[in-house]
Amino acid sequence: MVGATTLAEWFPENKLKAPGMGGRSVFYRNLEERLDTRRAENITFHVRHNEPSPDSIDFSTLDFLGLTHSGMIRQPFLDELAAHPDFKLGAGGSRLLNGNNPYTDEAEREIAAFHGTETALLFHSGFEANVAIMLAVPRPGDAIIYDELVHASMHEGMQGSMALCKRSFKHNDVDNFREVLADVRNSQSQIKQGNSSVIIALESTYSMDGDVAPLQELVKVAEEVFPEGNAQFFVDEAHTTGVFGKQGRGLVHQVGMQDKIAIRMHTYGKALACTGAAVVCESPVRDTLINFARGFIYSTAPSFPMVAAIRAGYKLMMTNQTQPLQDRIQQLVKYFFRTLEANPIWEEANDEGILQVPNMQDWEDKAFVTHVIPFMTRQRYTAYLCWHLQLAGINCFPIDYPAVPRGMNRLRIVFHAHNNEEDIDKLVSATCEWAQEMLDIEEAGEKSKLPAAARQVIAGRRSQKSDGVR
Ligand SMILES: Cc1ncc(COP(=O)(O)O)c(C=O)c1O
Repeated sequence: MVGATTLAEWFPENKLKAPGMGGRSVFYRNLEERLDTRRAENITFHVRHNEPSPDSIDFSTLDFLGLTHSGMIRQPFLDELAAHPDFKLGAGGSRLLNGNNPYTDEAEREIAAFHGTETALLFHSGFEANVAIMLAVPRPGDAIIYDELVHASMHEGMQGSMALCKRSFKHNDVDNFREVLADVRNSQSQIKQGNSSVIIALESTYSMDGDVAPLQELVKVAEEVFPEGNAQFFVDEAHTTGVFGKQGRGLVHQVGMQDKIAIRMHTYGKALACTGAAVVCESPVRDTLINFARGFIYSTAPSFPMVAAIRAGYKLMMTNQTQPLQDRIQQLVKYFFRTLEANPIWEEANDEGILQVPNMQDWEDKAFVTHVIPFMTRQRYTAYLCWHLQLAGINCFPIDYPAVPRGMNRLRIVFHAHNNEEDIDKLVSATCEWAQEMLDIEEAGEKSKLPAAARQVIAGRRSQKSDGVR
C-alpha cells in the first residue's frame, strides 16, 4: 500500500530552479525557466515508478479488461510467437521499403474485417495515427471541425494541417455543433458548393470526462447541413476499443454507425494490453495516409512482436473471450452508482459541491455506462481526495491542466473487469469518509484546516526535506 512518504515523493513541492542558475549556459537556464512556469503552479510532469502497488486496488490504469492484470494476453501472444518460430524481430525498414510482410498485411485484413471496413492501417501508437490523419487527410480548402475536448494528438496534427479553417464546437453540444457547421458552410464557398470537405473529429468516449459523443445526433445534423455528403466523421475509439460494441468492436459499432463514419482510430495500448493503433477506413483514406502521412512513410514499420501482440488481442476478442469482461465492467460501474447513491453522505456532499460525478446523471436511463468516471470537487481539494484514497489503498490519480482545461482538474477513476464489488465498496466508503471530513471542516468554518491525509503527506514532505531528500 502507498504510504504518506511515497505520496510526498509523487507529489513534491516544486522549487523554482532558474533563479539559482546564474553561472550555467543560457541554453539550460531557458529550459529551466520554462519548466519553472509549471513548477510555480505545481503542475510539472514526472516519470516515476508509480505503478499500482500489488496490494492496492486499481482504479487508475487503462487496462480496462484486465488483460495485463490477469495475464490473459500472454498465452495468445506466446502462441503467435510459437506459430512463427522463424519470425524476424525487427521490421528492417519503413513499410514502403523492406518493412512490410505478409504477417502485417494479414493483421490489417483481419482488423478491417473485424471492424467491418474495407481496409486498416497500423501505426505505432494512437498519438501517431491521429497526427497522421490530421496532417494527411484534410486538403487545403477543407475545414476541420472538432469537439473542444479532443485529445492532444489531434491538436498536434491540426497545427500542421493544410485545412483552410479549424473550428471547435462546445463539448458534446449538438446545437453549438450545428451553429459552427452552418457558419463554416456559409463562410466557405468551396465547401458550400460541395467542392471541399468538412472533417469532423470526435472521441467516442472522452478520455478525461468519460462521457460519450452523441454520434447519431451529430451525424444527423451534419447530413442536414451538408446534404451534398461533403462532411465526414473521424472518431477516435481509444477508450472504447475492446470495451464497447459486439466483442469490443467499439462505440461506433455499438450504436450501429459504421456506415456513417469515414475514419475510426482504434488503439491497442489500453484495453488490448499491447501498443499501437489502427486506422480503419476505406481505401482512399488508407492510400492517402500511405502517400502523405510523413510519420507513416518515414518511420520503421511495426516490429513482429508488436503486431503479434495486437493479433493476440484480436484473437481474444474474436473468440468471445473478452465479451464477458466488457459485460462485467457494465455491472461494476452500475454497482458503483447504486452504492454511491445509497451512501448517506452522498446527497449532501453532492449538493454542497464537495463531490460531483457528472456522468452519473440519469445513469439508470442510459443504454450503457462508461468505465471512466471523473470525481469533481473544489479545485484545491482534488489532491486531498487523491491522497485520502491512496492512503486507503486505492490507486488513482488527479488529472490537472494541461491535460484538462484550467479550473477543471479532477480525480479520474477508471473501472476494470478485474475490480470487484468489494473494491467498489471500499472506494465508496473511503470517498464518502473524506467527503464527510471536508463537510465538517467547511461547516466549522476552519478554512485553513487540512484534512488528515493532506496533513500526513505534508508531514512526509517535511521529513524528506529534513533527511535531505529532494
Ligand atoms: C483519446 C485518445 N486518443 C489517442 C491516444 C493516444 O493513444 P496511444 O496511447 O496509443 O498513443 C490516447 C492516449 O491516451 C487517448 O486517450
